[in-house]
Amino acid sequence: MFGTENFIDKSIETLSSNIPGKAIIACSGGVDSMVAAALTSKAIGSRLLAVYVDTGLMRKGETEEVRGMLEEIGINFRIVDASEEFFDSLKGITDPEQKRKTIGGLFIKVFEREAKEFGSKYLVQGTIAPDWIESGDGVRDTIKSHHNVGGLPKEMGMTVVEPLRDLYKDEVRDIARTLGIRSSERQPFPGPALAVRCLAEVTPENIEVVREACFIVEDELKKAAEEGKTEIPWQYFAVLLPTRSVGVQGDRRAYGRTIAIRAVSSADGMTATYSRIPMEILGKISARITNTMKDQVNRVVYDITDKPPATIEWE
Ligand code: XMP
Repeated sequence: MFGTENFIDKSIETLSSNIPGKAIIACSGGVDSMVAAALTSKAIGSRLLAVYVDTGLMRKGETEEVRGMLEEIGINFRIVDASEEFFDSLKGITDPEQKRKTIGGLFIKVFEREAKEFGSKYLVQGTIAPDWIESGDGVRDTIKSHHNVGGLPKEMGMTVVEPLRDLYKDEVRDIARTLGIRSSERQPFPGPALAVRCLAEVTPENIEVVREACFIVEDELKKAAEEGKTEIPWQYFAVLLPTRSVGVQGDRRAYGRTIAIRAVSSADGMTATYSRIPMEILGKISARITNTMKDQVNRVVYDITDKPPATIEWE
């Protein structure tokens, strides 16, 4: 079995000796970066600055939630609003790899700026094993460039430290629970955020649609689970598709967007099985999405593919 306590002690020791100066860490609020931040902060204290980049691509209420979590852990942190920069750079991009690489590059640009101001020479990242395995290691094929791997420019001027590099998600969650980090109960969320759930162009309007749809999927599944009608899946969200289809609204023709619902069970994200959500719940989610976003969405579909052959995210 994975020795959580042992890993925590050892990694604090290694981090103290590997980071002689100031360090910066990107904190998304996800379990990986929160655990990496908590461990590094235990090792080097206020020499660590955690930076949360508000990309404009986050889930509903997420920035305020992350602020609360960072305050709870009691580390040195800053919240940077870079949403305009992200939307500007993503204009016109629909290719998934180009999107991921643009986002990765922008993250690094923002961090480099923050690191310079803080005087940091080290960049701590919450990279875990599936991130670099799936980003291609020279042996395996590149499935998708995870933002914290594929986007790294060669000359970034900071030494990268990755304390969780050899771990899988379930192991990181064990550590989070041991450290008392609240995010251990959150579902996984990709670094490029809602951008990879928006198969259309990444605009504030499209992101708002997918943000609201993701919120509805989460809210309805949590309610259904509380009522004992289903289990909470490992990961569950909505995707905005680039197609339009014909529908009716009142007695008028509509030509609206499609939302796909994705829910999977998995242990570590490497393989996944689609969740057998009861039809009644799916129907409720569908009705709420089309009612809330009458003018945008007129069709909802459920993704019934496992990984492989699909991946969990659509991009
Ligand atoms: P896929 O879509 O490759 O995803 O089956 C496996 C798990 O990883 C998450 N994911 C990411 N996590 N950076 C991350 O930190 C990323 O770029 C990224 N892309 C996908 C995904 O949500 C799933 O849990």
